[in-house]
Amino acid sequence: MPVHTIPQTSLQNAFTAAGSKQLRAWCADLEAGGVLYFPVTPLPIPAEDLEVLLGQQQTGSKLHKNIAYKPKNDELTGVDAKTSGAATVRQVQEIMRRYSQNIERFLTRFLAPYKQRWVLDYASYRPLEEKGRDLKLRRRNDLLHTDAFPTRPTHGWRILRFFHNIHPTRTRDWIIGEPFPRVIGSFVPGTLAMPRSENILGRGGKQLAKATGLSKLVPQWKRTPYDDFMMRLHNAMKENEDFQQSCVKENVQFAPGSSWMVYTETVPHAVLAGQYALEQTFLVDPAAMVTPESAPVAVLEKMAGARLV
Ligand code: SIN
Ligand code: FE
Repeated sequence: MPVHTIPQTSLQNAFTAAGSKQLRAWCADLEAGGVLYFPVTPLPIPAEDLEVLLGQQQTGSKLHKNIAYKPKNDELTGVDAKTSGAATVRQVQEIMRRYSQNIERFLTRFLAPYKQRWVLDYASYRPLEEKGRDLKLRRRNDLLHTDAFPTRPTHGWRILRFFHNIHPTRTRDWIIGEPFPRVIGSFVPGTLAMPRSENILGRGGKQLAKATGLSKLVPQWKRTPYDDFMMRLHNAMKENEDFQQSCVKENVQFAPGSSWMVYTETVPHAVLAGQYALEQTFLVDPAAMVTPESAPVAVLEKMAGARLV
């Protein structure tokens, strides 16, 4: 069930006038915890760009997990001008910029039901071999986990990731777990307490804060009870050996030259092997879902019986 394969021909049909029902169905598949898999990527990388990307070998891999591109500031990190040369840095930056723009253009059509109610987040390039990486437990990506950003809470917005395996010959090997409502059953109640909505100001205080403009000062980066829960869930999954061993999961191999997309904050995933992948993250408004009740914030608020963001 979790992997829905989309051949090139289906894509062409979906972009015709009669295709809007199909586009909604694919959104619903994603929201239900599915992976949308394009065996042939709809966004091929030009040969000369591929050559530059495959030439990147990273140093200091423990510090920099990836090469990152931040579209908002047109900023590239993880490629060092001293060791790679300024010309290469510029080339990689241009490639990442184009990649990022092309994906957003594609998803504007493909995810038409969302009407662009998203924020284009970071893109990354992952040139390291994933098999046998030496990382601290909470940073390991070969253990099943759901994504949560330690320093950038999403306040309930969903983490959608679009991947591209640019390795010329090898697959990228993943494990995928069960849909969110089922998988949190292994952690709540038990390892994780339900998130509680905590309002330190109380109702009167909140009104006062609003009236005086104080609420504007509440920092954007403040974690809500939702963010706190999602971060703890990420850690709890990686730290639970029993869950890693015995949960329901499926092995998936993504072919060279393929792309796939998935809501990684709800679908447990791990990468076991593979090298050279591109990835673009979108933060999607949970209210934009075709099945809003499936958004994790809705699932958790229903369980908690309280507002969490
Ligand atoms: C992850 O998001 O955990 C890693 C996925 C990948 O790089 O293939
Ligand atoms: Fe992840």
